[in-house]
Amino acid sequence: MSSPTAFQVALSFEDGITRFIDCRPDETVADASYRARINIPLDCRDGACGTCKSLCESGSYDGGDYIDEALTDDEAASGHCLPCQMTPLSDLVLRIPATSAAARTAAAVHTATVTAVERHSASTVGLTLAVDDRGALDFLPGQYVNITVPGTEQHRSYSFSSGPDQQAASFLVRITEGGVMSGYLAERAQPGDRVRFTGPMGTFYLRPLTRPALLLAGGTGLAPLLSMLERLTQTPPAHPVHLLYGVTTDEDLVHLDTLAHYASVIPGFTFDHCVADPASRARNKGYVTGLIDAGTLHGGDTDVYLCGPPAMVDAVRSHISALGITPAAFHYERFAVTATTEPPTTEPPTDAVFGAPKETAGAAR
Ligand code: FES
Repeated sequence: MSSPTAFQVALSFEDGITRFIDCRPDETVADASYRARINIPLDCRDGACGTCKSLCESGSYDGGDYIDEALTDDEAASGHCLPCQMTPLSDLVLRIPATSAAARTAAAVHTATVTAVERHSASTVGLTLAVDDRGALDFLPGQYVNITVPGTEQHRSYSFSSGPDQQAASFLVRITEGGVMSGYLAERAQPGDRVRFTGPMGTFYLRPLTRPALLLAGGTGLAPLLSMLERLTQTPPAHPVHLLYGVTTDEDLVHLDTLAHYASVIPGFTFDHCVADPASRARNKGYVTGLIDAGTLHGGDTDVYLCGPPAMVDAVRSHISALGITPAAFHYERFAVTATTEPPTTEPPTDAVFGAPKETAGAAR
Protein backbone atom coordinates (compact mmCIF):
# COMPACT_ATOMS: atom_id res chain seq x y z
CA MET A 1 0.00 0.00 0.00
CA SER A 2 1.49 3.35 -0.92
CA SER A 3 1.74 6.00 1.77
CA PRO A 4 -0.65 8.92 1.45
CA THR A 5 0.58 12.11 -0.19
CA ALA A 6 -0.80 14.12 2.69
CA PHE A 7 -2.42 13.65 6.06
CA GLN A 8 -5.26 15.71 7.39
CA VAL A 9 -4.42 17.85 10.41
CA ALA A 10 -7.22 19.44 12.44
CA LEU A 11 -6.08 22.65 14.15
CA SER A 12 -8.42 23.35 17.06
CA PHE A 13 -8.03 26.91 18.32
CA GLU A 14 -8.73 28.27 21.79
CA ASP A 15 -11.99 29.86 20.65
CA GLY A 16 -13.22 26.47 19.50
CA ILE A 17 -12.86 27.15 15.77
CA THR A 18 -11.25 24.27 13.92
CA ARG A 19 -9.42 24.47 10.60
CA PHE A 20 -8.31 21.45 8.63
CA ILE A 21 -5.12 21.46 6.58
CA ASP A 22 -3.28 18.93 4.47
CA CYS A 23 0.24 18.12 5.68
CA ARG A 24 2.64 16.00 3.67
CA PRO A 25 4.62 13.34 5.53
CA ASP A 26 7.84 15.24 4.75
CA GLU A 27 6.76 18.69 5.92
CA THR A 28 6.24 20.11 9.37
CA VAL A 29 2.79 21.03 10.61
CA ALA A 30 4.04 24.64 10.87
CA ASP A 31 5.03 24.68 7.20
CA ALA A 32 1.72 23.16 6.17
CA SER A 33 -0.13 25.75 8.25
CA TYR A 34 1.85 28.53 6.65
CA ARG A 35 1.01 27.11 3.22
CA ALA A 36 -2.67 27.25 4.21
CA ARG A 37 -2.21 30.87 5.34
CA ILE A 38 -2.85 30.02 8.97
CA ASN A 39 -0.42 31.72 11.33
CA ILE A 40 -0.13 29.38 14.28
CA PRO A 41 2.13 30.77 17.05
CA LEU A 42 5.77 30.55 16.00
CA ASP A 43 9.01 32.19 16.97
CA CYS A 44 12.31 30.35 16.55
CA ARG A 45 10.93 27.66 14.17
CA ASP A 46 13.87 25.64 15.40
CA GLY A 47 12.60 23.62 18.36
CA ALA A 48 14.29 25.97 20.84
CA CYS A 49 11.73 28.40 22.26
CA GLY A 50 8.56 26.39 22.86
CA THR A 51 6.32 29.14 21.48
CA CYS A 52 4.51 26.72 19.17
CA LYS A 53 3.92 24.10 21.87
CA SER A 54 0.56 22.44 21.28
CA LEU A 55 -1.32 19.36 22.41
CA CYS A 56 -1.82 16.43 20.06
CA GLU A 57 -5.10 14.74 20.94
CA SER A 58 -5.20 12.17 18.18
CA GLY A 59 -2.79 10.60 15.74
CA SER A 60 0.89 9.73 15.55
CA TYR A 61 3.84 11.81 14.45
CA ASP A 62 7.60 12.19 14.43
CA GLY A 63 8.35 14.88 17.01
CA GLY A 64 11.52 16.07 15.24
CA ASP A 65 14.51 17.71 16.91
CA TYR A 66 14.19 20.09 19.83
CA ILE A 67 15.77 20.95 23.14
CA ASP A 68 14.40 20.22 26.60
CA GLU A 69 13.74 23.91 27.26
CA ALA A 70 11.23 23.88 24.42
CA LEU A 71 9.54 20.60 25.31
CA THR A 72 10.34 18.40 28.29
CA ASP A 73 10.14 14.63 28.19
CA ASP A 74 7.13 14.74 30.50
CA GLU A 75 5.35 17.16 28.20
CA ALA A 76 6.15 15.03 25.19
CA ALA A 77 4.88 11.96 27.03
CA SER A 78 1.60 13.73 27.76
CA GLY A 79 1.01 14.49 24.08
CA HIS A 80 2.48 17.95 23.81
CA CYS A 81 4.38 18.64 20.63
CA LEU A 82 6.14 21.30 18.60
CA PRO A 83 4.43 21.97 15.25
CA CYS A 84 7.58 23.66 13.95
CA GLN A 85 9.38 20.33 14.24
CA MET A 86 6.77 17.61 14.01
CA THR A 87 5.88 15.70 10.85
CA PRO A 88 2.74 13.58 10.66
CA LEU A 89 2.63 9.81 10.52
CA SER A 90 -1.19 9.80 10.42
CA ASP A 91 -4.09 12.24 10.50
CA LEU A 92 -3.76 14.49 13.57
CA VAL A 93 -5.90 16.60 15.87
CA LEU A 94 -3.92 19.44 17.50
CA ARG A 95 -5.07 21.95 20.07
CA ILE A 96 -3.33 25.22 19.27
CA PRO A 97 -2.68 27.70 22.13
CA ALA A 98 -4.06 30.71 20.27
CA THR A 99 -7.37 32.02 19.05
CA SER A 100 -8.28 31.68 15.41
CA ALA A 101 -8.12 35.48 15.12
CA ALA A 102 -4.55 35.52 16.43
CA ALA A 103 -3.72 32.93 13.80
CA ARG A 104 -5.31 35.18 11.16
CA THR A 105 -7.94 32.66 10.26
CA ALA A 106 -11.65 32.19 10.89
CA ALA A 107 -14.38 29.62 10.71
CA ALA A 108 -15.04 28.31 7.21
CA VAL A 109 -18.29 29.37 5.53
CA HIS A 110 -20.45 26.75 3.80
CA THR A 111 -23.67 26.89 1.82
CA ALA A 112 -26.19 24.10 1.52
CA THR A 113 -29.69 23.14 0.45
CA VAL A 114 -32.33 21.77 2.80
CA THR A 115 -33.22 18.23 1.72
CA ALA A 116 -35.41 17.10 4.61
CA VAL A 117 -37.27 18.52 7.60
CA GLU A 118 -38.44 15.60 9.73
CA ARG A 119 -40.62 16.14 12.74
CA HIS A 120 -39.45 13.30 14.95
CA SER A 121 -41.88 14.40 17.66
CA ALA A 122 -43.72 17.50 18.78
CA SER A 123 -40.53 18.69 20.45
CA THR A 124 -37.77 17.59 18.10
CA VAL A 125 -37.09 18.17 14.41
CA GLY A 126 -34.38 16.64 12.26
CA LEU A 127 -32.85 18.96 9.66
CA THR A 128 -30.87 17.48 6.79
CA LEU A 129 -28.73 19.48 4.38
CA ALA A 130 -26.93 18.76 1.13
CA VAL A 131 -23.74 20.79 1.41
CA ASP A 132 -22.71 22.49 -1.86
CA ASP A 133 -19.04 21.63 -1.61
CA ARG A 134 -19.17 18.61 0.65
CA GLY A 135 -15.51 17.84 0.03
CA ALA A 136 -14.56 21.15 1.63
CA LEU A 137 -16.50 20.40 4.83
CA ASP A 138 -14.45 18.58 7.45
CA PHE A 139 -15.39 18.21 11.08
CA LEU A 140 -14.66 16.03 14.05
CA PRO A 141 -17.50 13.87 15.39
CA GLY A 142 -19.14 15.91 18.16
CA GLN A 143 -18.49 19.37 16.73
CA TYR A 144 -21.07 22.01 15.87
CA VAL A 145 -21.67 24.77 13.36
CA ASN A 146 -23.49 28.09 13.45
CA ILE A 147 -26.45 27.97 11.08
CA THR A 148 -27.92 31.25 9.90
CA VAL A 149 -31.69 30.92 10.14
CA PRO A 150 -33.05 31.44 6.60
CA GLY A 151 -34.81 34.77 6.22
CA THR A 152 -33.01 36.26 9.21
CA GLU A 153 -29.57 37.50 10.15
CA GLN A 154 -29.51 35.37 13.28
CA HIS A 155 -27.67 32.16 13.75
CA ARG A 156 -28.00 29.23 16.10
CA SER A 157 -25.47 26.56 17.01
CA TYR A 158 -26.19 22.91 16.26
CA SER A 159 -24.04 19.83 16.56
CA PHE A 160 -23.90 17.44 13.64
CA SER A 161 -25.91 14.27 14.27
CA SER A 162 -24.37 12.83 11.11
CA GLY A 163 -20.86 11.47 10.87
CA PRO A 164 -17.97 13.31 9.21
CA ASP A 165 -17.90 10.75 6.40
CA GLN A 166 -21.60 10.79 5.63
CA GLN A 167 -22.60 12.76 2.58
CA ALA A 168 -25.63 14.47 4.11
CA ALA A 169 -25.22 16.83 7.08
CA SER A 170 -27.91 16.31 9.71
CA PHE A 171 -28.90 18.07 12.91
CA LEU A 172 -31.41 17.72 15.73
CA VAL A 173 -33.35 20.83 16.71
CA ARG A 174 -35.46 21.15 19.83
CA ILE A 175 -38.59 23.13 19.11
CA THR A 176 -38.96 26.02 21.55
CA GLU A 177 -41.76 28.52 21.84
CA GLY A 178 -40.68 31.70 20.10
CA GLY A 179 -37.36 30.27 18.97
CA VAL A 180 -36.03 31.72 15.74
CA MET A 181 -34.95 28.40 14.25
CA SER A 182 -38.06 26.74 15.70
CA GLY A 183 -40.26 29.27 13.95
CA TYR A 184 -38.48 28.71 10.67
CA LEU A 185 -38.71 24.93 10.91
CA ALA A 186 -42.35 24.94 12.05
CA GLU A 187 -43.69 27.52 9.64
CA ARG A 188 -41.51 28.04 6.58
CA ALA A 189 -38.88 25.37 6.06
CA GLN A 190 -39.07 23.55 2.74
CA PRO A 191 -36.77 21.20 0.89
CA GLY A 192 -34.86 23.38 -1.54
CA ASP A 193 -34.34 26.25 0.90
CA ARG A 194 -30.84 27.66 0.87
CA VAL A 195 -28.86 27.69 4.12
CA ARG A 196 -25.53 29.16 5.18
CA PHE A 197 -23.44 27.99 8.09
CA THR A 198 -19.98 28.51 9.57
CA GLY A 199 -17.70 26.09 11.35
CA PRO A 200 -16.86 23.55 12.51
CA MET A 201 -16.35 24.56 16.11
CA GLY A 202 -16.08 23.11 19.56
CA THR A 203 -13.74 20.99 21.61
CA PHE A 204 -16.38 18.38 22.37
CA TYR A 205 -15.20 15.77 19.91
CA LEU A 206 -14.36 12.11 20.09
CA ARG A 207 -10.80 11.27 21.10
CA PRO A 208 -9.24 7.86 20.47
CA LEU A 209 -10.88 5.42 22.87
CA THR A 210 -8.17 3.77 24.94
CA ARG A 211 -10.49 2.67 27.76
CA PRO A 212 -14.25 2.17 28.28
CA ALA A 213 -16.44 5.15 27.47
CA LEU A 214 -19.67 6.45 28.95
CA LEU A 215 -21.70 8.69 26.65
CA LEU A 216 -24.39 10.81 28.30
CA ALA A 217 -27.04 12.70 26.37
CA GLY A 218 -29.73 15.07 27.58
CA GLY A 219 -32.48 15.75 25.03
CA THR A 220 -31.11 16.91 21.69
CA GLY A 221 -27.66 16.59 23.25
CA LEU A 222 -27.95 13.18 21.63
CA ALA A 223 -26.91 14.71 18.29
CA PRO A 224 -23.12 14.91 18.77
CA LEU A 225 -23.11 11.46 20.33
CA LEU A 226 -24.84 10.04 17.24
CA SER A 227 -22.05 11.57 15.18
CA MET A 228 -19.48 9.88 17.43
CA LEU A 229 -21.28 6.54 17.14
CA GLU A 230 -21.28 6.84 13.37
CA ARG A 231 -17.50 7.23 13.54
CA LEU A 232 -17.29 4.14 15.75
CA THR A 233 -18.97 2.09 13.03
CA GLN A 234 -15.80 2.69 11.01
CA THR A 235 -13.26 2.43 13.82
CA PRO A 236 -14.73 -0.19 16.16
CA PRO A 237 -13.78 0.44 19.80
CA ALA A 238 -11.60 -2.05 21.64
CA HIS A 239 -13.42 -1.26 24.88
CA PRO A 240 -17.09 -1.17 25.93
CA VAL A 241 -19.06 1.96 25.11
CA HIS A 242 -22.29 2.64 27.00
CA LEU A 243 -24.72 5.46 26.26
CA LEU A 244 -27.34 6.86 28.63
CA TYR A 245 -29.99 9.08 27.09
CA GLY A 246 -32.24 11.16 29.33
CA VAL A 247 -35.24 13.26 28.30
CA THR A 248 -38.06 15.10 30.02
CA THR A 249 -41.14 13.46 28.51
CA ASP A 250 -41.86 10.47 26.29
CA GLU A 251 -42.36 12.71 23.28
CA ASP A 252 -38.80 13.96 23.59
CA LEU A 253 -37.44 10.47 22.91
CA VAL A 254 -36.05 10.21 19.39
CA HIS A 255 -33.67 7.97 17.49
CA LEU A 256 -34.08 4.94 19.74
CA ASP A 257 -34.16 2.89 16.54
CA THR A 258 -30.91 4.53 15.45
CA LEU A 259 -29.30 3.64 18.77
CA ALA A 260 -30.56 0.07 18.41
CA HIS A 261 -28.98 -0.04 14.97
CA TYR A 262 -25.65 1.15 16.35
CA ALA A 263 -25.88 -1.45 19.13
CA SER A 264 -26.18 -4.11 16.42
CA VAL A 265 -23.17 -2.95 14.41
CA ILE A 266 -20.69 -1.47 16.95
CA PRO A 267 -18.96 -4.18 19.01
CA GLY A 268 -19.38 -3.58 22.73
CA PHE A 269 -21.88 -0.73 22.35
CA THR A 270 -24.90 -0.74 24.66
CA PHE A 271 -27.41 1.94 25.64
CA ASP A 272 -30.26 2.72 27.96
CA HIS A 273 -32.64 5.62 28.36
CA CYS A 274 -34.72 7.29 31.02
CA VAL A 275 -37.54 9.80 31.14
CA ALA A 276 -37.99 12.32 33.95
CA ASP A 277 -41.79 12.48 33.68
CA PRO A 278 -43.30 10.19 36.36
CA ALA A 279 -46.14 9.40 33.93
CA SER A 280 -43.69 8.07 31.33
CA ARG A 281 -44.07 4.62 29.82
CA ALA A 282 -40.28 4.19 29.98
CA ARG A 283 -38.77 1.44 32.08
CA ASN A 284 -36.46 3.94 33.78
CA LYS A 285 -38.13 7.02 35.19
CA GLY A 286 -35.96 9.80 36.52
CA TYR A 287 -32.65 11.31 35.52
CA VAL A 288 -29.52 9.78 34.02
CA THR A 289 -27.76 10.16 37.34
CA GLY A 290 -29.99 7.32 38.59
CA LEU A 291 -28.32 5.05 36.03
CA ILE A 292 -24.73 6.02 36.84
CA ASP A 293 -22.85 4.05 39.48
CA ALA A 294 -19.32 2.83 40.05
CA GLY A 295 -19.95 0.00 37.60
CA THR A 296 -21.00 2.21 34.68
CA LEU A 297 -17.96 4.37 35.45
CA HIS A 298 -15.65 1.33 35.58
CA GLY A 299 -14.39 2.63 38.89
CA GLY A 300 -13.03 5.72 37.10
CA ASP A 301 -11.27 3.92 34.25
CA THR A 302 -13.56 5.55 31.73
CA ASP A 303 -13.80 8.49 29.36
CA VAL A 304 -17.05 10.39 29.89
CA TYR A 305 -18.65 12.38 27.08
CA LEU A 306 -21.65 14.42 28.19
CA CYS A 307 -23.83 16.76 26.16
CA GLY A 308 -26.90 18.28 27.75
CA PRO A 309 -28.39 21.38 29.34
CA PRO A 310 -26.39 23.12 32.08
CA ALA A 311 -28.45 21.64 34.92
CA MET A 312 -27.75 18.13 33.66
CA VAL A 313 -24.04 18.77 33.30
CA ASP A 314 -23.87 20.12 36.84
CA ALA A 315 -25.99 17.28 38.25
CA VAL A 316 -23.84 14.61 36.61
CA ARG A 317 -20.62 16.19 37.77
CA SER A 318 -21.94 16.43 41.34
CA HIS A 319 -23.22 12.87 41.22
CA ILE A 320 -19.92 11.43 40.00
CA SER A 321 -18.05 13.48 42.57
CA ALA A 322 -20.37 12.21 45.33
CA LEU A 323 -19.55 8.66 44.25
CA GLY A 324 -15.93 9.49 44.99
CA ILE A 325 -14.90 8.69 41.44
CA THR A 326 -12.78 10.74 39.09
CA PRO A 327 -13.14 9.61 35.47
CA ALA A 328 -9.93 9.39 33.48
CA ALA A 329 -11.35 12.04 31.15
CA PHE A 330 -14.49 14.14 31.29
CA HIS A 331 -15.53 15.94 28.12
CA TYR A 332 -18.74 17.89 28.23
CA GLU A 333 -20.74 20.37 26.29
CA ARG A 334 -23.55 22.33 27.80
CA PHE A 335 -26.20 23.96 25.74
CA ALA A 336 -29.01 26.32 26.44
CA VAL A 337 -32.22 26.29 24.49
CA THR A 338 -32.79 29.80 23.29
CA ALA A 339 -36.02 31.50 22.44
CA THR A 340 -37.18 34.88 21.15
CA THR A 341 -34.28 37.03 20.00
CA GLU A 342 -31.67 36.11 22.57
CA PRO A 343 -28.37 35.01 21.09
CA PRO A 344 -27.34 31.46 21.83
CA THR A 345 -25.73 30.95 25.18
CA THR A 346 -22.15 30.02 24.63
CA GLU A 347 -19.12 29.82 26.79
CA PRO A 348 -15.54 29.57 25.71
CA PRO A 349 -13.87 26.29 26.51
CA THR A 350 -12.94 26.41 30.16
CA ASP A 351 -9.61 24.72 29.82
CA ALA A 352 -6.70 25.76 27.69
CA VAL A 353 -4.22 23.49 26.05
CA PHE A 354 -2.02 23.62 29.09
CA GLY A 355 -4.77 23.79 31.65
CA ALA A 356 -6.64 20.62 32.41
CA PRO A 357 -6.34 18.28 29.46
CA LYS A 358 -8.38 15.65 31.23
CA GLU A 359 -11.48 17.79 31.14
CA THR A 360 -12.76 19.77 28.24
CA ALA A 361 -15.86 21.85 27.95
CA GLY A 362 -17.70 23.63 25.24
CA ALA A 363 -21.13 24.92 24.42
CA ALA A 364 -23.56 24.61 21.58
CA ARG A 365 -27.20 24.93 20.62
FE1 FES B 1 10.18 27.79 18.74
FE2 FES B 1 8.54 25.90 17.69
S1 FES B 1 8.61 28.02 17.23
S2 FES B 1 9.96 25.70 19.33
